[in-house]
Amino acid sequence: MKVDLKYKLFLLLSFIVTIQACVPDVEPPVTKPLFYQPDGFPPTSGQLVNNPVTYYGFSLGKKLFYDPILSLDSTISCGSCHQQFAAFAHLDHKLSHGINDLEGTRNAPPLFNLAWHSNFFWDGGSSHIDMQPIGPITNPVEMNESLLNVLVKLRRSTYYPALFKKAFGSDSITTQAMTRALAQFMSSLISANSKYDQVKTGTATFTVDEQNGYTLFKSKCESCHKEPLMTDLNFRNNGLDLHFADAGRARITLQPSDSGKFKVPSLRNVAVTYPYMHDGRLNSLSKVIDHYRSGIIQSSTIDPLLTGGNMSITDAEKQQLLLFLNTLTDPAFLNDKRFSEK
Ligand code: HEC
Ligand code: HEC
Repeated sequence: MKVDLKYKLFLLLSFIVTIQACVPDVEPPVTKPLFYQPDGFPPTSGQLVNNPVTYYGFSLGKKLFYDPILSLDSTISCGSCHQQFAAFAHLDHKLSHGINDLEGTRNAPPLFNLAWHSNFFWDGGSSHIDMQPIGPITNPVEMNESLLNVLVKLRRSTYYPALFKKAFGSDSITTQAMTRALAQFMSSLISANSKYDQVKTGTATFTVDEQNGYTLFKSKCESCHKEPLMTDLNFRNNGLDLHFADAGRARITLQPSDSGKFKVPSLRNVAVTYPYMHDGRLNSLSKVIDHYRSGIIQSSTIDPLLTGGNMSITDAEKQQLLLFLNTLTDPAFLNDKRFSEK
């Protein structure tokens, strides 16, 4: 009787083991490629050449992105300040809040279409997407952790070594492998399916008001917020201040002529990324348009396109512009389960 039970148990166990061994270790079917070149987009910056996106690299990057283990007290993950529903910006936070609720000095920008950027941060302080994550991890008011310590924690974990092995063929956990995985995840955050994109590909049409807003946008905004990325990725001064509390691009180049210049933000998904500007000073798109209508300050480094002063935009045109800006929201991207934490 006793033997019989043991034998049954043995059979059951071998059955489980066999089943597990049969589960194929292949990539689950992916409906869309993780990285692709959307129709009409310019060539990428080329920074992914040595780090092509793979399913396992992306998955590891996503795990790291949402893991608070990357911060000193394991309370803050990249995803704490970069929230998917806000196009990976920090919704309703003027300045970012990091570890111990410490406040940074800048507004967290949204994260998408980063494979087209060659410079990161408002001042372009990082010039490679592989290196960029080191900034927030070690920043005392963001995650305040040392790279060495992050690596120690990852190596100690029961599952990370296997995930690194799947992604990069070796279970040795290095800074480079970690930042490359994060870069693969972030590069896959592609937003190219807004109503605006659908109009461009002929699968949707603008209303009359949206079309009028678009025409106005092309004449007043597009030279800096260039289509189709809705940014020319240059550093410019759009007339917010006379004196610069934050020197912006000049902090990196040390050129006084770069003072008060910031990376032109993309206007894709802009309706969900408030508040606005590098320091989050404006909390609505209505106020942003009012800035261009009545608040442009002529300082020493004002952009040549704005030396003519305030733009003449009527109240009716403002409404049309707002309607157009709303067509840049990409619900498929904001709700894409492949990018969400759970
Ligand atoms: C405490 C909030 C906070 C955390 C945590 C955080 N970020 Fe950020 N992130 C910001 C802020 C603020 C900026 C803008 C900083 C600047 O311009 O100086 C930024 C900028 C960026 C940018 C540049 C985007 C662009 O358009 O140039 C990327 C990419 C990024 N973060 C990725 C990450 C990753 C990866 C992590 C985790 C390792 C992370 N962030 C953690 C707040 C945060
Ligand atoms: C001369 C170039 C230029 C022109 C023209 C321009 N912008 Fe901007 N825009 C910028 C820059 C630079 C910033 C970021 C400034 C900062 O944060 O210091 C910005 C920021 C914004 C933001 C905030 C986005 C965010 O994520 O914080 C919005 C919205 C915006 N602009 C809309 C417009 C609209 C609408 C027009 C036309 C009416 C326009 N811009 C014209 C350069 C320009």
